[in-house]
Parts: sequence; structure tokens; C-alpha cells
Amino acid sequence: MLPCTQKIKDLHFKPKGIILSGSPYSVYDADAPHVDPAVFNMDVPILGVCYGLQEIAWNHGKDVSAGDRKEYGHSILTVARHTSAAPHVDVLFSGLDDELSVWMSHGDKLGKLPPKFLTIATTPNAPFAGIAHTERPMYGIQFHPEVSHTPQGKQLLENFAVKLCKANQNWTMDRFVDTEIERIRTIVGPTGQVIGAVSGGVDSTVAAKLMHEAIGDRFHAILVDNGVMRLNECQIVHETLTKHLGINLTVVDASEEFLGKLKGVEDPERKRKIIGNTFIEVFQREAERVMKESGGAVDFLLQGTLYPDVIESISFKGPSATIKTHHNVGGLLENMKLKLIEPLRELFKDEVRVMGTNLGIPEDLVWRHPFPGPGIAIRILGEVTPEQVAIARKADHIYIEEIKAAGLYRQISQAYAALLPVRAVGVMGDKRVYDQVIALRAVTTTDYMTADWFDFDGKFLRKVSTRIVNEVEGVCRVVYDVTQKPPGTIEFQ
Ligand code: XMP
Repeated sequence: MLPCTQKIKDLHFKPKGIILSGSPYSVYDADAPHVDPAVFNMDVPILGVCYGLQEIAWNHGKDVSAGDRKEYGHSILTVARHTSAAPHVDVLFSGLDDELSVWMSHGDKLGKLPPKFLTIATTPNAPFAGIAHTERPMYGIQFHPEVSHTPQGKQLLENFAVKLCKANQNWTMDRFVDTEIERIRTIVGPTGQVIGAVSGGVDSTVAAKLMHEAIGDRFHAILVDNGVMRLNECQIVHETLTKHLGINLTVVDASEEFLGKLKGVEDPERKRKIIGNTFIEVFQREAERVMKESGGAVDFLLQGTLYPDVIESISFKGPSATIKTHHNVGGLLENMKLKLIEPLRELFKDEVRVMGTNLGIPEDLVWRHPFPGPGIAIRILGEVTPEQVAIARKADHIYIEEIKAAGLYRQISQAYAALLPVRAVGVMGDKRVYDQVIALRAVTTTDYMTADWFDFDGKFLRKVSTRIVNEVEGVCRVVYDVTQKPPGTIEFQ
């Protein structure tokens, strides 16, 4: 993966093909990034996705008109086959249905076909949703094949990589685990020690288990209780990691310190900063203690960074357009003079789950919904007080318990209850109350970059809502969020 402004003359290898990705820019923006035109003379297959399609058109005639309406979400794509054109033209959509459900997320669209291109797909709102060069394997598509909401997108990408670029499919998880364990042993050496934070989430647990497999108790895991984790989460994580996985773990209860600093804070980005900075302070304190006890020999920090985080950091301007500051532990390395080990940095979440299962991590943990570092603090839309945390935790616990009881947990990618900063009137036990509102969110996604809301049936929602208003004091109303991402992010804050 390279920034789009990469100069082709500086490339140290010959790629088998090139994919030009999407971007939040319009090619007409004064500061829009443009690819080196030499890309188009490299004599390898090229696939432009969304902005990538517009870049292709921009470089072949410059006629990309701003869309008359922006298009976000599902669309039906009709494939146009051209049996009498050059053989490469139909390869991109070969084996795919003639009508496909696809995910769109764009403002600009092509106004006209560039010279020597023909249309290979259309949607009701995009007459040039797919185009192919008539003489060489160069394609542009307006929709996003890389997201889970384009169900046949993977097959399209496989057609491109395997059939057009002739890439080999020789990567397996077992091979990856063995190589990674060996790599860790070589980097850390026979006596080196590693520390790393765990949160109970699948990424940090899998990374910790892998490290434990590689170097045993020379890996020290630290779990910081920040006071904004889910109900009983710390105890559960502690038990699983120590009893089931044999990981050398220390739990630090710093909940009062975190909640003290969050007092009076409502702004989501400030909450993130406070939690991130406090985490660093607490972790550092604990890490120094571990270092002292182990004779100061710790020189590596384990992080469960995944490939999407790596993608975010490769951009023509440094980190990609920041939507939210998700990276909560930035300063650790510089402060502690540790070297980073990131064994999962080439993997996506679904691959991490496969690895976790292969390493014997309990299913419950492997399939755990992701939970943000700042925890319930960014699901309480207002000040985070111990009382608000208790309400949000209880409501969330009931919701997740019911989702599990209904057998829906694995169908949903992420679900939680948020506590809204409003009060509403209700009647409870013949009395007028003026209490708080819980918003339920549940989404399906595999990449967390786009997401759709989960379509519960009314009976399920009725049961959850009844339980929450009956069992959680201070709540008199429950609502369900039906916003897809984009534009709504998965978290409320
Ligand atoms: P959004 O809300 O941006 O979330 O659609 C996408 C995914 O990222 C998680 N998320 C965070 N994770 N620190 C984290 O560790 C954060 O500050 C943060 N904010 C959002 C979110 O839960 C979802 O899985």
C-alpha cells in the first residue's frame, strides 16, 4: 500500500497490478491528490475504485461531473457484458450475477465515457458505474467492492488479482502463525521481555496469546480498569486470560483516577484525550514496576494493531483524513523508549478471529463485539459520572443479554446501549416521571468503515425496552437508532 502520490520512477519493485482506492476528495478540489500519470503507462492491470475511477477519467479526458445527488448506501448494479469486445473487458465481472447489490459512497460521478472506454456496469443513479478500456485491462468502478455490503465484491477483487494480475493465492493462517511465532522469538531473543496492554477485546487477546506461545511468561500483560468498561468486564477478562489462556496478567484498578479526571467533561474528543493520557500514565507506572521486578530488561511493547490502522496511517499527507482520534496510546513508545511489536498488523478482524480460534481462545471472546478504548464514556452523551456509568452499564448488559438469548449476537457486528443527554416525560406506576433516554444501536459490518443498522423484529425490541425501563432506575424511554454509516458513525460520539 503506497500513498497515491508515489512517483513511479522511485518504485523499487514491479507490481503485478494496481488498485487506485477511494478518497474523500473530489478530483476538482484545488488540493485534491492526483496519481503520477506514469501509473497509466506501466503495462499492468489497473482497477480504480470510486475516486480511483474518477482519477482514471481525469487522466483520460478530465470529464468527471459533480454528482447531482450524493449517493450513500445500497444500490442495484446492472452488469453489461460485451462478448464481441476484447476478451479482458468481461473478466472483471466474470462469474458474478448480472444484477448485484453494491455499496455506494460518493459525491462525484462520471459525466461522460472517456475515449476508448466502454460501460460495463450501470446503476439507476450512475450511468457509468463500471467502465473498461477497450484495448487494455484498465477498469474503473464507482461502487466499493472492498466492503461487506457489496456481497460479491470479494469475487470481483479475486477476478482482478488472480485472473487479470495473475497473482498467486498462497497465504494460509497456519503458515502465518508459525512464521510470526518464529519472527517474534528472533526479534525478542532468548532472554528479552515484552509488555503489552490487554483490554478483553479480541485483538489484544489474540496478540497476547500469540506472544505467550512465543515467549511464555517473558510476556507481561497489563489490564487497566478505567472505570468505563462494561459490567463485570474486568473480572471476566482476568479469569479468561489467566485461567484459560495461562497469560501472565496484572490487573490495575485505576477507575477512581479516570472518573475523577472525567468529572465535568462533556466533549467527546476531550473524553478520548483524558482517557488516552490517563491510560498512558497508569500503564507507564505499572510497566515501570514490571521492569524493576524483571531487572529492567523489558524493551518491547506489544500492540494489537490491525491492517485498517495501518491503512489509516498511509496517506499522501500523513494519517488519512481523521474522522475520530481512535488511537489512544500514541505517546507510550517515545516516553518509555520501547520498541514496538505488532504481530497482527497485516490482518483484518476476520483473520484475527480465525487465528484466535486456532490458538484455543474461547469462542465467547473471539466473537466479542469490538469495544472502544474510551469505553462507555463515549456512549454517555454528557458528563460521565459514576451514576451515569451505572445506568449505561446496566442497560447495555440487559440489551446484550437479550441479543445473546435470541441467538443474534454473531449476526450483529457491534451493539450497545447509549445514554442520551436528554430527559423525557413518562408515566410509571401512575406517577409522572422525567427521566433519561437510552438509545440502542446495533450494526452489521466487517470493516467498520461502512455499516448498516440491524433489523430487529418489533417483539425483540419491545422485550428489551420493557426490561430496561423496568430494571434500570432513572430511565423511562428507549429508542432504536436506524442510521447507517456513513453518515452516522458506529459510536454516538
Ligand atoms: P465509528 O464510531 O468511528 O467507530 O464508526 C468505528 C469503530 O471504531 C470504534 N471506535 C473506537 N475505538 N477508541 C477505540 O479504541 C476510540 O476512541 C474509538 N471510537 C470509535 C468503534 O467502537 C467501532 O468499532
